[in-house]
Order: sequence, then structure tokens, then C-alpha cells
Amino acid sequence: MADNRPIGVFDSGIGGLTVLREIIAAVPGESTIYFGDDGRSPYGTKSHETIIKYSLQDMLFLKEQDVKMIVIACNTASTHAYETLASVCDVPVVEVVVPGARAAVEATSNGRIGIIATRATISSGVYESAVLKAGENIDGLKVISQACPLFVSLAEEGWWDNEVAYLTACDYLKPLKEAGVDTVVLACTHYPLLAPVISRVMGPSVKLINSGVAVAGVVKSILSENKIESDGKDVTRSFFTSDDPKLFEQVAAPFLGRGLPSGTRRVQVDNIDVKGFL
Ligand code: DGL
Repeated sequence: MADNRPIGVFDSGIGGLTVLREIIAAVPGESTIYFGDDGRSPYGTKSHETIIKYSLQDMLFLKEQDVKMIVIACNTASTHAYETLASVCDVPVVEVVVPGARAAVEATSNGRIGIIATRATISSGVYESAVLKAGENIDGLKVISQACPLFVSLAEEGWWDNEVAYLTACDYLKPLKEAGVDTVVLACTHYPLLAPVISRVMGPSVKLINSGVAVAGVVKSILSENKIESDGKDVTRSFFTSDDPKLFEQVAAPFLGRGLPSGTRRVQVDNIDVKGFL
């Protein structure tokens, strides 16, 4: 029997819409509910404990909407909170790190992989470990990690490929260029928007991995393995934010890449009690 419950996707804010767009492209017949925690964004500068607490509240809000799967679109939340969420959630939880790491290992020819992300993602070391594990059969596999915190603001400002973006990228990406990486994982929801400038700095032969694409493939497989696919009828797209819906919709369009989200509703999640889950 078909399962027409929606897939729940959350992120610290609007960035996860780059993941949602790939999920919609991969499984267009599935309804989706997106929650962006814009009121408490960014997560990339927060502590481990805070990221876990926020992520639990985001997950519990989506669970209240009767979703059949939770996708943690946020790389920072995936690296810090995936294990906690997966251990307490009674529907499949999908994170972005392992799919991105596997895609990078498949793409590399010279065994040198760069990871760029928020400070919290890089300092967790989770991405680096995932790439080394996925590529354990590659002799001399090397991972170069670099936090690029300003990329988030550039993406939200719409400064995707101007002079400021170029100079910022030159500075951040220098260690990756010097190490001769042939593959770079865009391990942050916002970075796919900066792909043109990152490519300009790294050179056209360097492959950029958008983990959103890899995650969408995983979502499709899990739906099929668990026999929870929808029948494709009455597909709905709902959007929630913990801040002003107008602001969300103003900035969201390029991230979603398919016109404006509309009908976004505001919700408060900071009063959801997570004590029993920590
Ligand atoms: N969504 C976050 C991520 O993918 C980036 C923005 C933030 O720091 O909250 O890591």
C-alpha cells in the first residue's frame, strides 16, 4: 500500500532548500515539509550541545507533522546530531555526510579530496573520518579540510560570483589548491550557490560534490527499501520557518531554484521539551 505521508526536511535556515530541490527532482511524487530554523540560524558557529538541542527540537516538530522520514539537510546538524536523532526517532533519519563522502571518493582520481564547510562541521572531524572510511581502499588518500564561514553570508547576500566572493574564495581555497585536490565536497547547504566562483578559483578540472544530489539518491533508495513510497497523488509542498515567513520567502528562491516557496508559516520550536532525549 502507498504511504502518502510527507518527507520532513530541516535545516538551520534557508540553505537546506538546496537539498530539498534535489529531493524534489529525484522523487517528485513525494510530498515534503520543510522547516528552516531561521530564528536561531546559523548553527555553524554554535556549540555541540546547542546544535544537538536545536536539531532535536527541529526533528520533534517535523514528527508532530506525521512525516515518514526525516532528512537532516544541514551539514552542521548532521555532523553533530545525527547519532542522537537516529537513536530516538522511529522513522528513518537521513543525514548528508556519508552520501557526500562516498560521492567524493567515487569522483577522485588522485586521492586528494578537499572538504569545505562551516567551522562547527570542520571542527567535528566527522566529514574527514567519513571520507577516510569511504575511501579506505585508496592508497595514500588525503583529506584537506577548510572552514569557509563567510561563504554563508555571501550566499545569502546574493554575492555568488562577484569580486568579493572571488577574493574570499581565493583566500579560503589556497590550502586546497596547494595540496592539489581534484575533488571538493561542498559540505554546507549554501555552497552550491557559490559553485561558479569556487570552480573559477579551483580550476575547471576540479570536481565539486554537491552532497544534496547524493542525499536525494539515498532518500529514493530508503523509500523503496522500506516500501514507503507514495502513489504520487495530491503532492503537497509545505514550508515552515521559526522567523518571519516574508523574509524566508524573499531569500529562498535561488536556494530552492524553482520559483518562490509560498504559504510559509511561522512556528516556534524553542519551547519543545527535549530533556527526555538527552
Ligand atoms: N546549514 C548550515 C550547514 O549546512 C549552514 C548555515 C549555518 O551555519 O547554519 O552547515
